[in-house]
Amino acid sequence: MKILVTGGTGYIGSHTVVELLNNNHEVIIIDNLINSKIDVVDKIKKITNKDVKFIQGDVGDYNTLSKIFSENKIDAVIHFAGLKAVGESVKEPLKYYEGNIGITLNLLHVMQEYNCKNIIFSSSATVYGVPDKLPIKEDFPLSRPSNPYGTTKLMIEYILEDIYKADKDWKITLLRYFNPIGSEKTGLLGENPKGIPNNLMPYIVRVATGELKCLNVFGNDYPTHDGTGVRDYIHVLDLAKGHVKALEKNISGVHVYNLGTGKGYSVLDLVHTFEKVNNVKVSYKIVARRAGDIAECYADSSKAEKELNWKAELNIEDMCRDSYNFIIKNSTKL
Ligand code: NAD
Ligand code: UD1
Repeated sequence: MKILVTGGTGYIGSHTVVELLNNNHEVIIIDNLINSKIDVVDKIKKITNKDVKFIQGDVGDYNTLSKIFSENKIDAVIHFAGLKAVGESVKEPLKYYEGNIGITLNLLHVMQEYNCKNIIFSSSATVYGVPDKLPIKEDFPLSRPSNPYGTTKLMIEYILEDIYKADKDWKITLLRYFNPIGSEKTGLLGENPKGIPNNLMPYIVRVATGELKCLNVFGNDYPTHDGTGVRDYIHVLDLAKGHVKALEKNISGVHVYNLGTGKGYSVLDLVHTFEKVNNVKVSYKIVARRAGDIAECYADSSKAEKELNWKAELNIEDMCRDSYNFIIKNSTKL
């Protein structure tokens, strides 16, 4: 298939492009490079030994998208592009509503115009809010997330559902990611956020390299096995495979899948596993809880296993090893 990947030079997008090329799909990337670098394109080519078309442009720009669709017969779109900094979204909500929902509306308009009605959307476990029970299943009630970033994910899910209600030709897949970490094995692609990281693994790796002094563990008084927050960390390579499986399913409807491992690890579990597999020290101190955090979150991904024949295969040791491998090969000063 010929796939347009929005945000394809980003962290999850780049790994997914590799997986698509390895499965003999043809890929066109559109990315405005707001949170990624152009050299990712050559790295993808190096890893796969295959060609990929790159267009530097904004998904919110009608003319750019229109040109891509008029020049190429796109079979499906995997839509990663968007902004993802939770804290920033609280301070600048309009930037997030425009940068996530606005661009998605433009994309959907152009897709409709060119009769391309197959989309996979990057959603998030954040749409479940504070779950009543665990593990989280796809049919659990959704609730308004605590921040505009999360709200954009929920709103885009609703928009896509309405589009399907109006036109049953659409093939829509909503993939709700749990906590992606790790990198592909060569260490060429990975997650390297600009500035001080907000998420746990990018912070841990920078403490391990000495760029940051100490990890702040946000609370040790949660009702979890060691008091620190529990999450379902999933290797980005497994996540990438989930997209290819979802693409190949290819039937009309709105299909929702949790992509997680089904296992929950606490902040301290992750720190200690990281130290053990990489033989490094990660200094940490316990500080107050972070506003908006929940105690525990992990997926029931049996629906994806049953319907997509997908299951996460890599474990927490692989994730810790590969995250560190990437950063020691690519570390840039903060
Ligand atoms: P990322 O920032 O690494 O990748 C997003 C890419 O989109 C970047 O390369 C950026 O330059 C590009 N982009 C942003 N706005 C654009 C626009 N208007 N036009 C064109 N390109 C644009 O993020 P990621 O971690 O790879 O996340 C990919 C998607 O998955 C996002 O939608 C994110 O919200 C979602 N998601 C991520 C996580 C996570 O923990 N990383 C969890 C759940 C959902
Ligand atoms: C966060 C976002 C979520 C988003 C996801 C991926 C919040 C409230 N949630 O999820 O909307 O989809 O990232 O971008 O921001 N932790 C520390 N110290 C740190 C960083 C994190 O102790 O420096 C803890 C957190 O309290 C949490 C766990 O580590 O228990 C994971 O945090 P993080 O990586 O930020 O992911 P989420 O909070 O699950």
